[in-house]
Amino acid sequence: MDGGGTIFSTDLVTWGTRVKYFSSAFIVLLLAPVAAAQAGRSDGKLTDNPVYQTNCAKCHGKTGEGRHFAGPSLVSEKAVGASSDELRTIITNGKHHMPKFEGKLTAEEISTLVREIKQSK
Ligand code: HEC
Repeated sequence: MDGGGTIFSTDLVTWGTRVKYFSSAFIVLLLAPVAAAQAGRSDGKLTDNPVYQTNCAKCHGKTGEGRHFAGPSLVSEKAVGASSDELRTIITNGKHHMPKFEGKLTAEEISTLVREIKQSK
């Protein structure tokens, strides 16, 4: 008698925990794409672009303002004022100490970077 009751209530607790677990997992699943979509929408921002943070930030700085002896600011008048073609050429082929990214980044990734540099004033 007693034993049966205990088993029953244990089952109930397990069930309750599972429901809780599943519903929080469900909420995470539900919110993740929303967060990703929002991150994607802010793609006007160079420094929010993971491609930038992975490939460029070590020289041009996490904020894009450049780092001494490494790379110049990308939010300067000069960089923003350069034409999209010039920026694309520099990123694709490199320039002096700036490495070339041809073959490392896709044309689309480079285009996104160019657009973001143009917008980052
Ligand atoms: C190893 C360091 C290094 C890395 C990594 C690097 N750069 Fe550069 N970058 C430089 C240097 C140095 C210059 C200056 C070249 C010159 O004019 O002599 C430069 C110049 C530039 C310029 C021209 C700026 C201007 O004012 O004329 C752009 C645009 C640029 N980099 C974009 C990028 C992007 C985008 C990435 C990532 C895909 C990147 N760089 C990665 C070092 C780097």
